[in-house]
Amino acid sequence: MKKIVFGSDHAGFPLKKELIPYVKSLEYQVTDLGTFSTESTDYPIYGKKVGEAVVKEKSNLGIAICGTGIGISIAANKVPGVRAACVTNLYGAEYSRKHNNANVLALGARILNIDQAKEIVKKWLTTEFEGGRHQRRIDEISALDERNEERFDQIANLN
Ligand code: RB5
Repeated sequence: MKKIVFGSDHAGFPLKKELIPYVKSLEYQVTDLGTFSTESTDYPIYGKKVGEAVVKEKSNLGIAICGTGIGISIAANKVPGVRAACVTNLYGAEYSRKHNNANVLALGARILNIDQAKEIVKKWLTTEFEGGRHQRRIDEISALDERNEERFDQIANLN
């Protein structure tokens, strides 16, 4: 069974609670990394948890939710190896997989209703990375993660 981890802050908690059964119904094994209530907490804690869980097991995907999806995506993207996409529409859901090979989907619980969120999640989970010329750009992002300027310039053909 494919695996997926979820994390949210307090603002994202209600949407997370509704999305988890939906994603389970799509035959994913779900791990919920918290938070587990609407009591105020900090989104970087959960962006970090989701990001670390995703990179630990390379095939893992993650869904990270806060009020806007923005803060938690910024935090998750600080974990090397994470490509978190803050998505608000179906086009973004599709192309964050096709072109960016996003491994974390960040959603805004104060932006999306449950039906919009489900549609986005379904599109994101059923779209594959296209590879080809997009792989080079992912490799450039990996070189940025590694702070490896030489490798970045080499891949990007800048020297
Ligand atoms: C919490 O109030 C809110 O700031 C947070 O959920 C998120 O939207 C930040 O980007």
